Amino acid sequence: MLHRPRRNRKSAVIRDMVQEHHLHAANLVFPLFIIDGEHQKVEVSSMPGIYRYSIDSLLKEIESCLKLGLRSFDLFPAVEESLKDKYATESYRKGTLYLRAIQAVKKNFPEACVITDVAMDPYSSDGHDGIVENGEILNDPTLEVLGKMALAHAENGADIIAPSDMMDGRIGYLRSLLDENGFTSVSLMSYTAKYASAYYGPFRDALGSAPKNGDKKTYQMNPANTREALIEAELDLQEGADFLMVKPGLPYLDVIKSLSDRFNLPIAAYNVSGEYAMLKAAIAKGWLSEQVIPETLLSFKRAGATSILTYHAKEAIVQGWVK
Ligand code: PBG
Repeated sequence: MLHRPRRNRKSAVIRDMVQEHHLHAANLVFPLFIIDGEHQKVEVSSMPGIYRYSIDSLLKEIESCLKLGLRSFDLFPAVEESLKDKYATESYRKGTLYLRAIQAVKKNFPEACVITDVAMDPYSSDGHDGIVENGEILNDPTLEVLGKMALAHAENGADIIAPSDMMDGRIGYLRSLLDENGFTSVSLMSYTAKYASAYYGPFRDALGSAPKNGDKKTYQMNPANTREALIEAELDLQEGADFLMVKPGLPYLDVIKSLSDRFNLPIAAYNVSGEYAMLKAAIAKGWLSEQVIPETLLSFKRAGATSILTYHAKEAIVQGWVK
């Protein structure tokens, strides 16, 4: 035999020498859930090891992550039902929980990168990412709400704004609005190819944000499509996005690969709540070893993602799976 590929696997040194992809803490983003109150740290039942934090506990958690070298955080608020309305006004009201959280994190840890989520669902009495009128999700009027939300995030110190709503034209709309208001250096991480996925279940449990009626299929993408993701990516590029995100991650590795082959913006993968729950459940049952976690994270790198949003971020560093 002339070719024996096993020669390159014969020792740890050689295996390491030829290793193509690596996991680094610098590429991980840790999503964190926020609740009102003080000294609160409440576990999400469908996401063991993941908590909802009141602002004081959030600061402690972020401090411990920073010590480990985990420096980027994506914040999501759990909003009380009584504060929700049709137009998600709680999302940009001065002094609201989420805005206070952004401000507190940036004030205490200016070196941390704060990513904020722009979408109406956690604040909407309809549980949708846009304004609902007669069962329809209105696109253009929703942009105005998203704009108010994004400006409020920028004013309170957000480093990167991540619109997760899937309304048409929102990247261009938000880019101009931010620029007109002097926030030219606030970045936009677009949820470019966000699919109408059943993998978001545990996240909606965590925030109590499930749609009250219907589903999200008129704005989130059909899981059966890949070429449509290229249209979304083309538009986001033209409209001024700084990152293209694919979500969920694991079931859509082909989409990550396809965008990373064609577009020169950094690609982010969102390893969502259901993907986390699935591995944790199987590990808890003893059906899978924990090694599925680093293996899964590496798959995003192989597919071409630079940044990985994952609930495994902290444990991956603690366990030494990430350097
Ligand atoms: C809402 C939003 C969702 C997630 C992030 N932003 C859920 C949804 O669209 O219903 C899901 C994240 C996860 O499952 O981890 N705009």
